[in-house]
Amino acid sequence: MSTLIENIPVEKVKSSRIHEVDFDNLSFGNVFTDHMLVAEYKNGNWENPKIVPYQPLSLNPSAKIFHYGQSIFEGMKAYKDAEGSVWLFRPEENRKRFNISASRMAMPELPEHIFMNGLEALIKLEKDWIPSDLGSSLYIRPFMFASGEGFHASPADSYTFIIALAPSGAYFSGKVRVLIEEKYSRAANGGVGYAKAGGNYAGQFYPTQLAIEKGYHQVIWTDDNTHEYLEEAGAMNVFVRIGDTLLTGPTSDRILDGITRKSILEIANDFDIPTEVRKISVTEVVNAAKEGTLKEMFGAGTAAVVSPIAAFGYQGVDYSLPEVDDSYATLLKKQITDIQYNTGEDKYGWRHKVV
Ligand code: PLP
Ligand code: COI
Repeated sequence: MSTLIENIPVEKVKSSRIHEVDFDNLSFGNVFTDHMLVAEYKNGNWENPKIVPYQPLSLNPSAKIFHYGQSIFEGMKAYKDAEGSVWLFRPEENRKRFNISASRMAMPELPEHIFMNGLEALIKLEKDWIPSDLGSSLYIRPFMFASGEGFHASPADSYTFIIALAPSGAYFSGKVRVLIEEKYSRAANGGVGYAKAGGNYAGQFYPTQLAIEKGYHQVIWTDDNTHEYLEEAGAMNVFVRIGDTLLTGPTSDRILDGITRKSILEIANDFDIPTEVRKISVTEVVNAAKEGTLKEMFGAGTAAVVSPIAAFGYQGVDYSLPEVDDSYATLLKKQITDIQYNTGEDKYGWRHKVV
C-alpha cells in the first residue's frame, strides 16, 4: 500500500495500460482502467474498502453468486469538461437505488461512505482515463455479488462490492429499431423488475436475440399480464410523443425508476412540454402511428442517454417514426448533456464535482 486517497488505501499498478487505449475509437464498456475499488462484507460488517489493480477475482465454485444469482449493479458516468474538471450526475440517486436493489435481493445494504468516498477516490485516481469529447465518458459500474459459499438455497453470508471503470463511447451508434414484445416478459408484479439485479438482464438476452435476428436492436417490454401496455426497453425507460404530449409509463414493481427518466420529466415540465405519466397502450401507439400523430419515441438511460427510436415492429408490421423539426429528444438530450458535461446551467443542482 503506497498512498491514501479519501482515507482509502491504494495499491497502484506497476505500469499503466492507458497508452494502449485508442481514446478516439472507444466502444461501450470494453476497456477497463488500471484500478478498481473493492470492499468485502464478512461476519455482519463491511470491511474497509481498498483500491487495487484491476484484476481477476478468486472465488470458490460454491460461491452463491454462481448458483442463486445474488448480484446487483448500478450504471453511472463521470464526465470531463473543457477545463479538465470531473463531474458526476445525481450520484446520490444511484447510491440509494443500489441499496433498494440490495434489499430486494436479500443482500446487505452498503454504507454511504463506502459508495461515495470509494467512488470519488477511484475517479480521482483514474482521472486521466476520462475521455473529454462530448458523447464519451467514463462509465462507472458499482456492483455487488454473493461471494459466500454453500449450496443451500439461502442468502450468502459474505459479499463483495466492486467499482470498475470503463472509458466508453456511445451505447448505440445510431437510431434504434425496436420490437414491441408480444410473448416474453421482463418482469412481473411482486418480482424484481425494479431492482438492478443481474438476472433481470440475463432473462432479456434470449428474446432480444430473437428480435436482433429479425433486424431490431432492442425489445420494448410490455406488461406480463396482457402485453398491451408499454413498459421499458432493455436498458432504457421509454418515452412516446403523441401530438405535442410527451408520455411515459409510471414506475412500478416491474419498471426501473430511471434517473434519466425522472430528470427528463422535470426538464420537460420546465420547457412547458405537456407531459403525462400514465399507462401507454400498444393500440394507442399503433393508432397514432397510423393517423400520423405519433411524432417521436425514444429511450432514456445512463448508458443510452436519450436514444431516438427510428421504427418499431408490432405483429409483423414495421412503423417508421417521422423526422420532426422540433424534436423533444434533441432538446432534452441537449439539456441533460449540458448539465452532465458542464456546458450549460444546472439550475437543479444535479451536477456533482469530483475534482
Ligand atoms: N431501465 C433499465 C432496465 C435499465 O437498466 C436502465 C439503466 O440503468 C434504465 C431503465 C435507465 O435508468 P437510469 O436512467 O437510471 O440509468
Ligand atoms: C446504464 O444505463 O447504466 C445501465 O445500467 C444499462 C446497462 C445494462 C448497460
